Amino acid sequence: MSTVGLLLSCLFLKEALALSGNFWHITDLHWDPTYELSNNPEVVCASSGSRPAVGAGQFGDYVCDSPWHLINSSVYAMKNILPDPDFIVWTGDDTPHVPNEDLGEEAVLNIIHNLTNIIQEVFPSGFYTEKLLNQPGFRMLVLNTNLYYDQNMLTQNTADPAGQFSWADQVLTEAANNKEKVYIIGHVPPGFFEKKRSKPWFTPKFNKQYVDLIDRHHSVIAGQFFGHHHTDSFRMFYNTRGSPISTMFLSPGVTPWETTLPGVVNGANNPGIRVFEYDTQTLLVKDVVTYYLNLTHANAATGRWEKEYRLTESFRVPDASPASMHQVLERMANNHCYLQKYYEFNSVNYDMTDCDSDCRVDHVCAAREVDFDRYEDCLVKEGAASIYGGLLPILSVAVSLILTKQ
Ligand SMILES: *[C@@H]1O[C@H](CO)[C@@H](O)[C@H](O)[C@H]1NC(C)=O
Ligand SMILES: *[C@@H]1O[C@H](CO)[C@@H](O)[C@H](O)[C@H]1NC(C)=O
Ligand SMILES: *[C@@H]1O[C@H](CO)[C@@H](O)[C@H](O)[C@H]1NC(C)=O
Repeated sequence: MSTVGLLLSCLFLKEALALSGNFWHITDLHWDPTYELSNNPEVVCASSGSRPAVGAGQFGDYVCDSPWHLINSSVYAMKNILPDPDFIVWTGDDTPHVPNEDLGEEAVLNIIHNLTNIIQEVFPSGFYTEKLLNQPGFRMLVLNTNLYYDQNMLTQNTADPAGQFSWADQVLTEAANNKEKVYIIGHVPPGFFEKKRSKPWFTPKFNKQYVDLIDRHHSVIAGQFFGHHHTDSFRMFYNTRGSPISTMFLSPGVTPWETTLPGVVNGANNPGIRVFEYDTQTLLVKDVVTYYLNLTHANAATGRWEKEYRLTESFRVPDASPASMHQVLERMANNHCYLQKYYEFNSVNYDMTDCDSDCRVDHVCAAREVDFDRYEDCLVKEGAASIYGGLLPILSVAVSLILTKQ
């Protein structure tokens, strides 16, 4: 290459780098301050309920919420991997899974205090909000979606709890007028849990209002970042013509805690943390890189956080735009290799069993349809597709047998 060519490509490279930013998304740290190693596996942590913590070690156990050692390790891992992110998105759930009456307000505040402390200590304070605010054309919309939780009896008879939908509508309208781009962050997502068929978190009316909000404002929404599931998944939003208009990224949790939700099998995960790479001009999500701790290995040997996968490499897509995420979904839906890969990532390499045809329907429909009715339609359609898919080889053998006979 000539010197000029080299110089030019360096300039372009610099330009390309300048347009690229990155941020951390961490969620569901769930610190359990009671975690303590013991000879009796039933008393290791309050969050296990009465389940024995048979694999308990320094970094935790799959039936327990995070010991402090795991929290500390995850925050220092972030510092090692990417010490200078543009900002950190932290979407909550800080307290252990124990009955509310066992916790109390003071304990909750202490937990939040300690978690905030360590993040600020390791990533010296203030800097991320400043960078965020100093960036023109960029807005972060933080929604308290706990208001829409179907367990939340306080809001069930309210049309728009805390006026949040109308406020969000206004913020997004202003953003459009100001030609801004917006990231939406929240904790509890709309739609369905991919590990349990027909299990939503929102009540039907709030789910519909959320879908409508995205539908109206998708042109300014560059991404949605949520947690709550502890798993690694995503949700697609489509317009009435079926074109992908928005994606919600569900990031895996730090806590490995196995869910006690009835009907979920193998519902634990390895601790995960995640970097999003984005275009600083348009806020387009360019890539998603997930890092994880193999908890079994960490307890047995050393706590080593490693790269789990890079979205564009693993799913062969150019970026993480809605169009590309739609492609990811279609690959999962139609190709077992991609489905299996997605499935192993879903539990952050914890559940490596085969994703069978029921599993395929659960994951594909949860990712494809946030709307309640459309999700149920998808179950029927994809369920039928699985049956035909299973029958097809048998039918073709039968046909070829008939053909050979004649
Ligand atoms: C947290 O992790 C860092 C880095 O590994 C280590 O130096 C420090 O001692 C840990 N602190 C606690 C309280 O575990
Ligand atoms: C939590 O914060 C309190 C008050 O600042 C402190 O005394 C305590 O050592 C912290 N706990 C941990 C595990 O860092
Ligand atoms: C995690 O570590 C355990 C123990 O070393 C090992 O058996 C297992 O294969 C590891 N899992 C992955 C996904 O690498």
